[in-house]
Amino acid sequence: MERHIHRRLVFFGGKGGVGKTTCAAAFAWGAARAGKRTLLVSTDPAHNLGDLFGCAIGGEEREIAEGLWALEIDAQREVDRYLRQVKENLRRLLGGRMSASVERHLELTRQSPGTAEAALFDGIVDIVRRAPGAYDLVVFDTAPTGHTLRLLSLPEVLGAWIDGLLRRRKEVTALHHRLLFDGGEPAPDPVAEALAARREAFAEVRAIFLDPEQTAFVFVLVPEKLPIHETAKAIAVLEGQGIPCPTVIVNRLLPPGDGSAFLAARRAQEAKYLAEIARRFANKERITLPLLPRDIDGPEALAQVAERLFAPAQATTGAAGGTWCEERARENR
Ligand SMILES: Nc1ncnc2c1ncn2[C@@H]1O[C@H](COP(=O)(O)OP(=O)(O)OP(=O)(O)O)[C@@H](O)[C@H]1O
Ligand SMILES: [Mg+2]
Repeated sequence: MERHIHRRLVFFGGKGGVGKTTCAAAFAWGAARAGKRTLLVSTDPAHNLGDLFGCAIGGEEREIAEGLWALEIDAQREVDRYLRQVKENLRRLLGGRMSASVERHLELTRQSPGTAEAALFDGIVDIVRRAPGAYDLVVFDTAPTGHTLRLLSLPEVLGAWIDGLLRRRKEVTALHHRLLFDGGEPAPDPVAEALAARREAFAEVRAIFLDPEQTAFVFVLVPEKLPIHETAKAIAVLEGQGIPCPTVIVNRLLPPGDGSAFLAARRAQEAKYLAEIARRFANKERITLPLLPRDIDGPEALAQVAERLFAPAQATTGAAGGTWCEERARENR
């Protein structure tokens, strides 16, 4: 896992509640401690990074620990910003006036399916493009799987969609020009230029997503039937698109030792699913995290998780010595 701190982008995904936010935050924390200027971004509409770090995090990047910045992308705010921009462009093109029907159409767009995702994706594209220089590493805490898969397929889908728009736009402007000016060189088209720039930004980000040196998608799961199936399916979709998914984190492993019949039954089930995980994710780096006695909350607990993420040999033994992470946690108390 430690090798991923040298990437530009690391995404954490998985089924609802499996520990994505915890692992993303612990990884980002550890990367910052290792000297990487790290930005931790939540793309989940139900943000909870703030709860985890015990401080308010919002739509503006803020430094929450030394070398660690955080940001919660607000999809609705991105939609508003995006529609404002579209309206400004339209007003400029239409000489300051916009018909009531166009206004109405734009207002409907605000509520249309896909608008929030497209706007969220624009926010991600923006971060990925301006990160170099500002940050060494950007860590994304994503929403539960389905939402994230749709989001990450957007560069391809939107790219093709923009190509279609551009083609139609060119045909219409060429016709318009022929009718009005009877030939001659068509004037520059600011709408086509804006679309082409967006297309280029998507292509740039997509190239980064597909590069295993720059990007890793880490799946978090728990050793149970449905999370295993969902993770395997999601990895197949992402790898099918060329997005590298080299690592799975198996969270909440039961503690060793004998206990009640209940615990023995849970452990027997766990052993079965761990064997299935080893088989189905045989070509992946597999990291295990124990179920801790309490929720993971605050810097000290995150430091403990980071230690286990970065030292997988210790992960299954549950050893927690006085390593660098814990020392830093003590200093920060
Ligand atoms: N190994 C663990 N031991 C104990 N508690 C854990 C462990 N991993 C996660 N938790 C706790 O489980 C809860 C859910 O974790 P987390 O918020 O990281 O999941 P998530 O996958 O991000 O959830 P969501 O899908 O809602 O975003 C949190 O209260 C967290 O502290
Ligand atoms: Mg979460």
